[in-house]
Amino acid sequence: MNSIGVVPGSFDPVTLGHLDVIARARGLFDQLHVVVVHNPDKRAMLPIAQRVSLIEKALADAGLGDIHVTNWSMGLLVDYCQEVGAKVLIKGLRSASDVAYETPMAIVNRKLADIETVFLMPDPVHGHVSSSLVRQVAGLGGDISPYVPAAVKEFIEIGRAVQQECRTDIVC
Ligand code: PNS
Repeated sequence: MNSIGVVPGSFDPVTLGHLDVIARARGLFDQLHVVVVHNPDKRAMLPIAQRVSLIEKALADAGLGDIHVTNWSMGLLVDYCQEVGAKVLIKGLRSASDVAYETPMAIVNRKLADIETVFLMPDPVHGHVSSSLVRQVAGLGGDISPYVPAAVKEFIEIGRAVQQECRTDIVC
């Protein structure tokens, strides 16, 4: 039987910490799915389709192109797991506050559909990296290159360059 793991998240945008967890999870399952889900508790920066595309690019650049990347907006995350035959969710744990945030979700997902959650520790070098930090630094014009894959850095920089041109060009 093929084991299928699902790495869910809002990935807005995907960070080097996410990539680290995804790469570790890839070694544990026959198939790995990365699933982008809208989190209504967070103010979005990128459209969902863009997040999927950036994850695909980042994974291809990292030699992890065999991982399936998609989005899910059709209900509960466990519904996606059941649809594809996955029994395990994988999440990264950076700190005690992550434990507090993730524990209720893991218990609810197990009660809903018997889906277990496996927690992986990212390399401590990524322990302080989060998408919300990246959104804040990017929004204020700072350098996000220590925190994100090259594909994300390039995408954000192109967006900035276009905004800059629009400020100096009457046509925009
Ligand atoms: O990266 P995030 O924002 O911490 O990811 C949170 C996410 C998207 C995994 C979580 O909000 C989620 O699982 N949403 C799907 C809706 C759902 O199934 N909710 C019930 C179980 S928590």
